[in-house]
Amino acid sequence: MPRTEFISTGLYVPERVVKNDEFTQWMDTSDEWIRTRTGITERRWVADGQSGADMAYEATMVALGRAGLQATDLDCIIYCTLSPDYFFPGTGVFLQRKLGIPGVPCLDVRNQCTGFIYGLSVADAWIRTGQYKRVLLVGSEVHSTGMDLTTRGRDLAVLFGDGAGVAILGPTEDARGVLSTHIFADGRHAELLFCDAPASARRPRLGQEDFDSGRIYPRMQGKEVFKHASTRMPESVQLALSTNGLSVSDIKVLIPHQANLRISEMVQRQLGLRDDQLYNNIQRYGNTTAGSIPIALDEVVQAGRLARGDLLVLTAFGSGFTWGSAAIRW
Ligand code: ACO
Repeated sequence: MPRTEFISTGLYVPERVVKNDEFTQWMDTSDEWIRTRTGITERRWVADGQSGADMAYEATMVALGRAGLQATDLDCIIYCTLSPDYFFPGTGVFLQRKLGIPGVPCLDVRNQCTGFIYGLSVADAWIRTGQYKRVLLVGSEVHSTGMDLTTRGRDLAVLFGDGAGVAILGPTEDARGVLSTHIFADGRHAELLFCDAPASARRPRLGQEDFDSGRIYPRMQGKEVFKHASTRMPESVQLALSTNGLSVSDIKVLIPHQANLRISEMVQRQLGLRDDQLYNNIQRYGNTTAGSIPIALDEVVQAGRLARGDLLVLTAFGSGFTWGSAAIRW
């Protein structure tokens, strides 16, 4: 049975850079509070009219170019996002339309910050069984249009950024590629990081009260999220390592989901990783949820930090709660 290799990667972030200080015009906050609590100094925001599918398209064109492939070489799109362009249909079809490849199946994955690892797990199964040979795996998010930019929403508004990262995956007969994926969820904590309007479970789906109460914006119990994220990510990295008979010292690069620099530092401490084994870029992009791992991965690859045979480990935690890890022999 073949394994799944990363053929190429690409990223796109919007041009507009929003520094921490900009938030002080809308809410009671400070650059100092944001930097010390989260590590973030700036993030990107989309231009008017720019969508998640637009960003995913740009990142895909980069990845296709690097692989020497055409869009018509893709047999499947897996599109991971928590900020779909529309309530329905899924955003994958809008990307497919832009790429001009009608007929190619599009699966939308709604697993928030863990979306890319869930998507990788599905892509890996499809590639190993021979169902698809060229899978485009996308993580793309537009948060800036859905944040409460008042003091009421300050705990979340400052954290998130917009951006897209993609990977093109395919089969390899070599003893490398995706070694394992592990995915988990615990719906008992669904409301701890939550956006419940508009919603088909509510009557009405969307009403004035949803605007007045701020229910149309995400809400978060930050300390609970912090506690679970900083436990679940190291746990799932240890599981990825033990499944493959590997240890922390074998890791060349660990990319944790970029939720908060303090969470990444906790993950690093708990695993005993050296600084050079960990990659963080939340300082420049904020939390781009499903986009965070593929954006970071593309930067790691472009910086030449992964040579053939190196061990790459990915881990994520997000709303749901969902979490997971992947071990990849580059
Ligand atoms: N500017 C200024 N003050 C703020 C801001 C802000 N942007 N946001 C919140 N505060 C205030 C709160 O209102 C609160 O004020 P109060 O004490 O008067 O009520 C106070 O700061 C809370 O301060 P701390 O207790 O020090 O905050 P904490 O250390 O918990 O940090 C944070 C908050 C950064 C949100 C933290 O809980 C966290 O990182 N949690 C993890 C959540 C996360 O990363 N979510 C990302 C999405 S999920 C994911 O990707 C995994």
